[in-house]
Amino acid sequence: MTSMPSAPRIAIIGAGPSGFYAAEALQKTLPDVVIDLFDRLPTPFGLVRGGVAPDHPKIKSVTRIYDRIASHPGFRFFGHVTVGLDVTVPELHAAYHAVIIATGAQTDRQLGIPGEQLAGSHAATDFVGWYNGHPDFSDRRFDLTQHEAAVIGLGNVAIDVTRILARDPETLAPTDLVSPALRALHESALTSVHVIGRRGPVQAACTTPELRELGELEGVDAIVDPADLVLDPVSAAHLATGDDRTATKNMEIFRRWAERGPTGARRSIVFHFAASPVEVLGDARVQGLRIVRNDLVPDDSGSVRAVPTNLVETLDVGLIFRSVGYRGVPIDGVPFDDRRGVIPNAAGRVVDDAGEAVPGVYVCGWIKRGPSGVIGTNKSCAADTVALLIDDLTTGVIDVARQLGTAVDGLLLARGARIVDWSGWQALDRAEIEAGASAGRPREKVISVAEMLDIVAAGNER
Ligand SMILES: Cc1cc2nc3c(=O)[nH]c(=O)nc-3n(C[C@H](O)[C@H](O)[C@H](O)COP(=O)(O)OP(=O)(O)OC[C@H]3O[C@@H](n4cnc5c(N)ncnc54)[C@H](O)[C@@H]3O)c2cc1C
Ligand SMILES: NC(=O)c1ccc[n+]([C@@H]2O[C@H](COP(=O)([O-])OP(=O)(O)OC[C@H]3O[C@@H](n4cnc5c(N)ncnc54)[C@H](OP(=O)(O)O)[C@@H]3O)[C@@H](O)[C@H]2O)c1
Repeated sequence: MTSMPSAPRIAIIGAGPSGFYAAEALQKTLPDVVIDLFDRLPTPFGLVRGGVAPDHPKIKSVTRIYDRIASHPGFRFFGHVTVGLDVTVPELHAAYHAVIIATGAQTDRQLGIPGEQLAGSHAATDFVGWYNGHPDFSDRRFDLTQHEAAVIGLGNVAIDVTRILARDPETLAPTDLVSPALRALHESALTSVHVIGRRGPVQAACTTPELRELGELEGVDAIVDPADLVLDPVSAAHLATGDDRTATKNMEIFRRWAERGPTGARRSIVFHFAASPVEVLGDARVQGLRIVRNDLVPDDSGSVRAVPTNLVETLDVGLIFRSVGYRGVPIDGVPFDDRRGVIPNAAGRVVDDAGEAVPGVYVCGWIKRGPSGVIGTNKSCAADTVALLIDDLTTGVIDVARQLGTAVDGLLLARGARIVDWSGWQALDRAEIEAGASAGRPREKVISVAEMLDIVAAGNER
């Protein structure tokens, strides 16, 4: 047992939920801990700002907890610093006792079908980032003059995208959905959104409250073909156990929609089950989507897998959103599992190609587990990782007697980085809230990094 430094210095990369929960777990165990939290954006909060749907504002209030974590005396925010570009993980490793990587899943999974890259075929990641004002996606354009769109996937992100496309934009006006997106949605000519699940209704990955909400939208019909609710034996047996509350409740909703049928509403959401996209049709842009019917056959896990049949049909859609999951991206100097899109780790300790732990380097959140789980899931995930880090501090796996290298702030300033600290973010936060107030909106997000930096600089001069 070695004695711990009284104020260990820890770098956390990524200011999303998992980065903040890691900071909180450290602060609870080590009251004098010094934490520097890095994010590539000038703004904190990861997908809580750039992913969570604008019409679900209550969920975003979790940021109050993160504000409290940031107010801890040993906490500093280094916004607008991309680790791997402005500073490397080895440089951070030299300057801190330990590094926690919490960079989430920054890109989308691909379908790997012909035509996927045609104009008008988009990753849900891009659409979500665009309507939420993520600066990486502010220049994206979505052709909402089309009458029919397809959303591929049946997870909660697919449901978010479908809801934003289908709902009356007037109801989005009092949210923080960014103005350019609001204007585009006002002009939308969409009449049908087709939601395509490769397996059956029992395997829908979305949760019940999110699904139910689609049926409660004003002026929107949720349409399910009763024939799609005739279950294969494995799904029927699974449902009959009554153990899977989500599947049971989701089925009740799908049955209700199937019984009600269309009511002639202005827009419809049409569900297609046991169907997989096989080709995006079109020359220069999307003109249709070819889908194949699947048989659902038992798999090794006791569920079912989709096996394509010969039955093919074409949906007349002009716009496609692929919502089949997010994917982590590698960081220079850190091992990466390209197949799973995560940083390889043993319960949170980063491991190298030989499976050996890299001392002092940890992961938490989506880059550790893969892109699943709600905000709260990251709290226990981060706490588990921090418990290992504390073990390593106390057992000497982390060399606490080591002379720490050059402080990173000096390094970054010498490289001309324009770091946004917590007070800089607070100035930007106030500016956004003020800009939204006159229009009765919670905030008007700034969608360009250059403009964000100008506002921060002006705030610093005051
Ligand atoms: C569209 C969408 C909607 C969601 N809605 C909900 C919801 O309503 N309720 C709910 O409970 N959960 C929701 N979730 C899930 C929730 O957002 C995630 O569980 C959570 O955000 C994952 O946290 P994270 O910290 O691992 O990743 P993120 O939130 O993605 O945070 C990662 C952070 O790392 C930063 N970063 C990345 N690379 C670098 C780098 N090289 N250098 C510096 N910084 C970097 C990013 O800028 C980002 O701020 C949603 C997810 C999505 C995709
Ligand atoms: N309101 C909320 O709480 C909220 C909102 C948004 C996101 N989230 C959370 O964020 C996480 C990520 O959500 P997500 O929707 O991106 O992922 P997800 O829940 O994993 O759903 C992905 C969907 O894509 C389908 N899919 C995967 N590969 C496919 C392929 N090749 N062809 C066709 N379909 C394919 C999956 O079907 P299979 O099941 O057949 O694999 C599944 O329906 C989830 O944990 C989610 O709950 C929560």
